Amino acid sequence: MEPKEPQINKQVVSKQRVADHGEVYTSEREVNAMLDLVKQESVRIESRFLEPACGTGNFLIEILRRKLNIVANRYRKNQIEFERYSVIAISSIYGIDILEDNIEACKSRLLELFETGYKKLYMDNIKGTCIKSVKFILNRNIILGDALTLKTVDNPEEPIIFSEWSPVNGNMIKRRDFTMCNLLEAESSKISGGLFEDVYESDPAFLPKPVKEYPLTHFLRITNVE
Ligand SMILES: C[S@@+](CC[C@H](N)C(=O)[O-])C[C@H]1O[C@@H](n2cnc3c(N)ncnc32)[C@H](O)[C@@H]1O
Repeated sequence: MEPKEPQINKQVVSKQRVADHGEVYTSEREVNAMLDLVKQESVRIESRFLEPACGTGNFLIEILRRKLNIVANRYRKNQIEFERYSVIAISSIYGIDILEDNIEACKSRLLELFETGYKKLYMDNIKGTCIKSVKFILNRNIILGDALTLKTVDNPEEPIIFSEWSPVNGNMIKRRDFTMCNLLEAESSKISGGLFEDVYESDPAFLPKPVKEYPLTHFLRITNVE
């Protein structure tokens, strides 16, 4: 039998999924109340969020909504700036879930949220390259994996790898890939902090090492770089 399509507005899909995976979604009201506790970060366009059991993305969608509202308010009159900051907002959101249908639903929701706002503002002028970059980033950032073993679901030998996307010189992006395991090791050596390198500046002994670095690339062409 095909897996049941996750139902975004329900907190429970089935008793079986609750028993197997503890799958009970957080309601929108609770999500927003929790995000209000870190309000400043949730409206900072480039602040990085990782949800290690993201389900269909109830937290990630509200974080993205807050960030994209800021982007639209600030940059709606300048299309390239709107696109650039939207890509930065999306590239800072990360999720892992162990169920494939949840990951697919999560990526679709995040993409749809961006596309709806983008089309509303620039109807006839939307760029295929921008949508392509956003899809590419979502496919890299929202990962089908096991947050306990830190391995992918498709290949339990393969580590979960996250891409860091750093804006450089206006329209360029630097991509560096890290294993989640390495990020957590470095993180546990610190008392507090965020996801990537800005956290480790004060103590270079614990800098996580990228497994791969990519050349600087224009944000509308990131799908071209391997
Ligand atoms: C309680 S739900 C929470 C979903 C979402 N965070 C929310 O608050 O709406 C738990 C989620 O964790 C996922 N999950 C369970 N075990 C996991 C694991 N080892 N690694 C990653 N995700 C897991 C389930 O598939 C489910 O989507």
